[in-house]
Amino acid sequence: MKIIVVKDYEEMSAKCAEIFINQLKNKPDSTLGLATGGSPVGTYKKIVEAYNNGEVDFSKVKTYNLDEYCGISILHPQSYYYFMHDNLFNHVNIVEDNVHLPSASGENFVKQCDEYNAMLHEAEIDIQLLGIGSNGHIAFNEPGTPFDLETHVVELTDKTRQDNKRFFNSIDEVPTHALTMGIKNIMAAKQIVMLISGANKADTVLQLLNGPITEEFPASILHKHPNVTVIIDEAAYSKVQK
Ligand code: PGA
Repeated sequence: MKIIVVKDYEEMSAKCAEIFINQLKNKPDSTLGLATGGSPVGTYKKIVEAYNNGEVDFSKVKTYNLDEYCGISILHPQSYYYFMHDNLFNHVNIVEDNVHLPSASGENFVKQCDEYNAMLHEAEIDIQLLGIGSNGHIAFNEPGTPFDLETHVVELTDKTRQDNKRFFNSIDEVPTHALTMGIKNIMAAKQIVMLISGANKADTVLQLLNGPITEEFPASILHKHPNVTVIIDEAAYSKVQK
């Protein structure tokens, strides 16, 4: 696991965007694994800037997202479909057919997981972007999720719903369930880049860097992946012994 410590969120976003921009320059038909949440917003802004400067082209790029909430329409501003279009897809020349997110509309979520999982089996993700929950979750794989699970329906923990409340009007509006790639899907990516920013993640960073590999802290599995880069800002790194 390669650790890069940067000054702040801005620098973290610039470093991460640089990795993705180089990926697209080297392989214009890359398959990207993408994430939502607060951590990647700055990265997407910088990738859009690079697109506007003519540095990158999305016409041959395919994307697969990690997860989607159940029970809210894709038109809801907090759906991950909406988030991805708002932050990235609407601003670059990606072909809509090349954009993939788990679909959590309708009733049969298990079937929708199976469909998404089948798509993932056909794909080969070159580089996967990840955030981390304060409880160590990756995508919506909450503590206790078996490492060998693939795409599945998950009941969100109270901690995750509280963490995500800031994006909604009230806790009652935060969905209770989501569809998520499993840890096995995430580990299949050729390369992984994780972003960690802010003092509220300082304990999370300690656990990730010094704790054991355990299903109780899902991100700990990344120690077993051959090509992971974690970009951490100083606030999130503040409890690590120098
Ligand atoms: P955040 O979420 O980027 O909004 O902190 C990360 C996550 O929950 O995976």
